[in-house]
Amino acid sequence: MCGIVGYVGDGQATPFLLEGLTKLEYRGYDSAGIAVYDGKSIRVEKSVGRLVSLKEKIAGNEPSGMVGIGHTRWATHGRPSDLNAHPHTDCTGDFVVVHNGIIENYMALKEDLIKKGHVFKSETDTEVIAHMMEELYNGDFEATVRDVLNRIDGSYSLVFMSRRDPDRLICTKQDNPLVIGLGEGENFIASDIPAIISRTRRTYILNDGEIAVIRKDSVWVTNREGEPITKKVFEVNWNAEAAEKGGYEHFMLKEIHEQPKAVRDTMSARLAKDDSAVVLDELKWNEDFLNSFHKIFIVACGTAYHAGLVGKYYIERLARIPVECDIASEFRYRSPIIDDCTLTIVISQSGETIDTLAALKEAKRLGSKTLAVTNVVGSSIAREADQVIYTWAGPEIAVASTKAYTTQLIVMFMLALYMAGIRRTLPAARIHELIGKLRQIPAQISETLEDVEPIKTFAKVYGFNEDVFFIGRSLDYDVALEGSLKLKEISYIHAEAYAAGELKHGTLALIVEGIPVIALATQKSVYEKTLSNIKEVKARDAVVIGIAAANDTELEKYVDHVIKVPETDELLIPLLTVVPLQLLAYYAAITRGSDVDKPRNLAKSVTVE
Ligand code: AGP
Repeated sequence: MCGIVGYVGDGQATPFLLEGLTKLEYRGYDSAGIAVYDGKSIRVEKSVGRLVSLKEKIAGNEPSGMVGIGHTRWATHGRPSDLNAHPHTDCTGDFVVVHNGIIENYMALKEDLIKKGHVFKSETDTEVIAHMMEELYNGDFEATVRDVLNRIDGSYSLVFMSRRDPDRLICTKQDNPLVIGLGEGENFIASDIPAIISRTRRTYILNDGEIAVIRKDSVWVTNREGEPITKKVFEVNWNAEAAEKGGYEHFMLKEIHEQPKAVRDTMSARLAKDDSAVVLDELKWNEDFLNSFHKIFIVACGTAYHAGLVGKYYIERLARIPVECDIASEFRYRSPIIDDCTLTIVISQSGETIDTLAALKEAKRLGSKTLAVTNVVGSSIAREADQVIYTWAGPEIAVASTKAYTTQLIVMFMLALYMAGIRRTLPAARIHELIGKLRQIPAQISETLEDVEPIKTFAKVYGFNEDVFFIGRSLDYDVALEGSLKLKEISYIHAEAYAAGELKHGTLALIVEGIPVIALATQKSVYEKTLSNIKEVKARDAVVIGIAAANDTELEKYVDHVIKVPETDELLIPLLTVVPLQLLAYYAAITRGSDVDKPRNLAKSVTVE
């Protein structure tokens, strides 16, 4: 997520802008910039890389003025560069904007503005907004902002500056955070509370659709129609560290709860409005080329590998193309059979995992076409692959991957549907139905996050067991692998995931009285078989926690506890069943007192072999 700051007051803007952006550095970013009205014009200074590069660039010549905005960018559209860094301006430099989020219809808007003679400097979606201000400005700054907002689709928090109305800032939000800090003779804007609590703890928390006009001595809030809204002052009593985590105790819990938004951001701009198709404009391959692939490899590590296993299932089931899914460190050394009709998909949250990058290079050397699914724009893997589809999960800080996993599943599902549409392996009605179900997933993840008490209890009761098993079949087995890794890596419990049908071939010897077994049973085609495997472990007095769909009334007869997730197509249910497993791992780690965000021996990105 990008960081946003704004200042209007009697003091100098630049010191607050730089201080505020520094407090937001933890969120992850790849470039930074500020814009300050100096009494005549708006001076914009920006730089790719760390904030220190921007500070060095302006050292000794800092912009002076009492109104300004600043931004740290987490790239989504357009690679990290000086030109793509925010703030962005229109052709005249009279309008300046900073943005966090995604403007879904920016391409159409940009084409229209170019036809009207606007000249764009960056590859970003954000710059479109500055040019729209220029195009639509009718002398009324606030009315023009409303007009622009009525023409854009997507998720955003936005702050506008205008040289023609230099005594104020205007800000608004939709599905992205924005707070207003209330000072004495000065007011502040920030995308996150840590940026302002050293200046004030009195804030307005903006709600979706609200528009605030901020002067040094007033904050005027209205709705989209211009009707005034009375805001309640929210006194921030968090300390700085808690504020960075948005009030959550750990980044991991914050990121688990960010999944509905991360999933929505990753998919909404890629689904046709009438649910008829997946739209992957970023894929530059034409239909004939996509039809030429007769074999796909999916290669990744850790959680990304587990997402790859689900992706394999999706592509084989929906697009009917043979897929092999490999751990990257194995793929590299097994002389995979690859030719120019092979597609190799690498999945990596960081885009820097050395084993995955090396596997990608090996696949290219052997003649494969390559596609990366990654969360970091401009990462090594993104630059090495022929094509890239980005997850738009925002920065993932906790070592244990959560929102990256669910957004990877979303991308793999959309890719499988996209291929199925091109290869005509699915009827249009089925594609339409699946896209409709896909749109419900963010709200269903939210629903799954509502009742965490039973999971907290399980974590307390079973959190001191030294061995835990996860079992499932088909997609449930793939999710069991992810649940097991989550529990292992942050609670240090020895968790093992097993294909439920495989237990009797040896591992059943380890099932003894009282051992916790997490059994996933959501896949209809193997449900009865999974029940048999549950009975096998129950016969050895294991304690079984079942994971089932909401409409399942059978499973509770055979297990000790049941966690239910909302009903959806069984292809999509991994997006929901993984959530209680993430929470179980989190609360087990809390029970055992391990370092949730930075577990022992592990790094967020494994850039060494
Ligand atoms: C997952 O929780 C782990 N942190 C780890 O397995 C991770 O998924 C793996 O190292 C791959 O990282 P990447 O997605 O950045 O390539």
